[in-house]
Amino acid sequence: MRFDIFSIFPEIFECYLQTSIMQRAIQRGLVTIETHNIRDWATDKHRMTDDEPFGGGGGMVMKPEPIFAAVEAVVGAPPACPVILLTPQGRLFDFGVAQELAQYERLALLCGRYEGVDERVRQALVSDEISIGDYVLTGGELPALVVVDAVTRLLPGVLGDPQAASQDSHATGLLEYPHYTRPAEFRGMKVPDVLRSGDHAKIARWRRRQSLLRTWQRRPDLLAKARLNEDDTEFLQELQRKQNREVV
Ligand code: ADE
Repeated sequence: MRFDIFSIFPEIFECYLQTSIMQRAIQRGLVTIETHNIRDWATDKHRMTDDEPFGGGGGMVMKPEPIFAAVEAVVGAPPACPVILLTPQGRLFDFGVAQELAQYERLALLCGRYEGVDERVRQALVSDEISIGDYVLTGGELPALVVVDAVTRLLPGVLGDPQAASQDSHATGLLEYPHYTRPAEFRGMKVPDVLRSGDHAKIARWRRRQSLLRTWQRRPDLLAKARLNEDDTEFLQELQRKQNREVV
């Protein structure tokens, strides 16, 4: 898979992409990530990428010409792949959207700054808009990294353990169970005996129930969409009955 990222601060991406799983995925050729400086396509004397808004008001707006020129030079006109604008006005990014994006061979990510981009970029260049949450960041660079990271993890061969991505929180529709490593006891806190029992069936059952319990406690909204078996439903009903008894 290939990502082309358009930004006026491409240096932001360097450190993150040269570390850990992202670095390995790039080195192994599982993903190609090219960053492009929009400023390189600005043609005026000062290589301006922003200007004052028509109609007045505070802040600056990213100019359309360098953005169109950059994206069209790199991905073609019309663009050969989806062009995604990172913006708080976009559809909310979640695991389902990451899975959807992982199906593409190539994606262009456009990072806005300032008050946003000229509306004509939205009208005639961008094919999708994504927000990573209901808050406003200084620019689309962090959101672009979030998207690149979450999508790359889903590509075949990126995670050492082929099952790792499918067991991540949200992949199963549930939050993950608690993890422990050595020491078996730390400051009086013991690792649950079942995890040291060597009984794999028992461990799997404990983990499943911990996932259900966590999701029920923290994100009950996820349970409505999760794939649950009979055992799961029974366990959740028991949790509910217990809670009802406590309330009474
Ligand atoms: N740019 C600024 N804030 C953003 C957000 N929450 N999601 C995506 N892009 C953004």
